Amino acid sequence: MDTERLNKILAVFEGERGGLISILQRVQEEFGYLPEAALFSIADFLKLPPSQVFSVATFYDHFYLTRRGDHLVSVCQGTACHVLGARDILETAENCLGIKTGQTTPDYKYSLERVACLGSCALAPVVLVDDEIHSRMTVRKVKKLLTEDLDNTETQT
Ligand code: FES
Repeated sequence: MDTERLNKILAVFEGERGGLISILQRVQEEFGYLPEAALFSIADFLKLPPSQVFSVATFYDHFYLTRRGDHLVSVCQGTACHVLGARDILETAENCLGIKTGQTTPDYKYSLERVACLGSCALAPVVLVDDEIHSRMTVRKVKKLLTEDLDNTETQT
């Protein structure tokens, strides 16, 4: 972990009381996850027991304690998506990426997760890649999506 980058973040919160959640969010924005060493440093900075910082970091689903991939692939498994084949789509995503749900590819390019509902039920089944919704997905469409190089796709658009 880059201690200098962490210290710059902590310096912004100098003199503020509380702020644990804000610091955790800012550190995760910077590093993409919450490195263990950062959690100990945050505890030290806030003069809190490390167990308290770890319990907050593990309580919220949106905090990650392990490094995530550059791209987050979220496959909706909510009811509307489920009845239209979301299970097959998730299985296809696992096969394309060579990982199970909840895992990250060894090259840290992709993380795969299942979500309950993305709030786009009319577009079901839905896959979210980073901030982009992919609607009315099929097994064929998800294969195409996950086998094309997303980094190159971004630079072409
Ligand atoms: S159930 Fe999938 S978007 Fe709502």
